[in-house]
Amino acid sequence: MERKWWKEAVVYQIYPRSFKDANGDGIGDIRGIISKLDYLKELGVDVVWLSPVYKSPNDDNGYDISDYREIMDEFGTMEDWEEMLEEMHKHGIKLVMDLVVNHTSDEHPWFVESRKSKDSPYRDYYIWRSGKDGKEPNNWESAFSGSAWEYDETTGEYYLHLFSKKQPDLNWENPKVRQEVYEMMKFWLDKGVDGFRMDVINMISKVPGLPDGEPQEGKKYASGSKYFMNGPRVHEFLQEMNREVLSKYDIMTVGETPGVTPAEGILYTDPDRHELNMVFQFEHVGLDSGSGGKWDIKPWSLADLKKTMTKWQKELEGKGWNSLYLNNHDQPRAVSRFGDDGKYRVESAKMLGTFLHMMQGTPYIYQGEELGMTNVRFPSIEDYRDIETLNMYKERVGEYGEDPQQVLEKIYYKGRDNARTPMQWDDSEHAGFTTGTPWIQVNPNYKEINAKAALEDPNSVFHYYRKLIQLRKKHDIIVYGTYDLILEDDPYIYAYTRTLGDEKLVVITNFSGKTPVFLLPEEITYTTKELLISNYEVSEEEDLREIRLQSWEARVYKIR
Ligand code: GLC
Ligand code: CA
Repeated sequence: MERKWWKEAVVYQIYPRSFKDANGDGIGDIRGIISKLDYLKELGVDVVWLSPVYKSPNDDNGYDISDYREIMDEFGTMEDWEEMLEEMHKHGIKLVMDLVVNHTSDEHPWFVESRKSKDSPYRDYYIWRSGKDGKEPNNWESAFSGSAWEYDETTGEYYLHLFSKKQPDLNWENPKVRQEVYEMMKFWLDKGVDGFRMDVINMISKVPGLPDGEPQEGKKYASGSKYFMNGPRVHEFLQEMNREVLSKYDIMTVGETPGVTPAEGILYTDPDRHELNMVFQFEHVGLDSGSGGKWDIKPWSLADLKKTMTKWQKELEGKGWNSLYLNNHDQPRAVSRFGDDGKYRVESAKMLGTFLHMMQGTPYIYQGEELGMTNVRFPSIEDYRDIETLNMYKERVGEYGEDPQQVLEKIYYKGRDNARTPMQWDDSEHAGFTTGTPWIQVNPNYKEINAKAALEDPNSVFHYYRKLIQLRKKHDIIVYGTYDLILEDDPYIYAYTRTLGDEKLVVITNFSGKTPVFLLPEEITYTTKELLISNYEVSEEEDLREIRLQSWEARVYKIR
């Protein structure tokens, strides 16, 4: 397998609005990030993926961009950004920027021009259609509730927005749009950025004719996803982008691709196809969703998690490359979702980190994950900020008449604001995030869970993550070894091996508060064993063949 720096790297995601506020206006900013680079250096991460910092009216917190070449006022200036990049590089940290090019803001000059008239030179930068029988051009639902179409009076036509109505979709069929995007990418690459995370990049090609989707039970609008996810020209577009831009720089790329299967994952990431380095797949974070989508919440099972992760590990092996994540700014906190955020918060957060970082792929850490930050339960919908959550609440409670408390319970479990409460730096007011009033409240558990306390405690989640990252630098097998699931049917233990040459890792993780017994399969033999990491004290003498595990225990052995 070819060695690549981005395979050996660990990425840390910063959601700038919630990371660190330097000027007291309650909103995280670039100078705040600069002030925390020593912290990231100490953690040992190699790359920062920075969620959007471009000019934006913030309908979707920066994922609605009105100028791709300017910095959002609330976050600072271009000089601040340039200083941040320079400082990151001095700290040995690379910078991956978020590339949001499926859509722009409706306040982007292209769209402002586009909506003015049917023969505006920018009309075809977006997807305009006339209505059908006095209704929307098709029945697609927006990811943020309601129709994916918005009627515009000026010209009497509708524009497509797969997300909020302030996020009109760009028309990638138009070669001018593609050239604009490529030029903009070069603008940032020439400033020295080290790669891109590409927002919903598998949605840029829509099936011509934009056919109606299958109606959804109990819902006004249909899911059109099979007509806009992994569409007919997406690979052609990415190959063009690669030829014209990506191939000219030594960078890393990761595509956000909801709904991809491993077969499609290979198409995006097979190096011979010259598209992307890796993608974020969504199957494992969809295990607790029913057929009704994200808010149709059901319990996930360990058996399904094993199946899904193993499928991705094995199918991409030698063909593509995995990204590894349990958290990001769109997902609830992993320790609340897959672990135990009560009594075993620390143990289970470490276990989840072990489980993920020992797999094959590039691991991503989302801000606060390294502290074991948890979900939040705000008492009122007024306390929430996320457009997806607010629209969903309005639709369910307002239009469908659902019980507000039940809808809040869904938000407590899955809402994106779980990930967006401010980073907990210390136990002072507002967790040291701001001296002003934070744009969204801090999780009340900040007195106990915060970076200052974690740095001082050698047994903290932070120091455990630091060790996980260091191990990756020391042992090639963590990066390049092949993966095999063991104990497939065990209801509590997720265990697997990694193999490289005559070495093996045995990764043992207990996904429960119970104390099951781990039995090493007989075909795995060894003459020497070394414990690389564990989240409980382990005695050297212990026999790896049979271990009574403690609650949420994790261990990694290297054997020969
Ligand atoms: C991606 C982003 C999410 C955003 C959406 C629309 O899924 O991660 O935060 O709301 O795209 O840009
Ligand atoms: Ca600020």
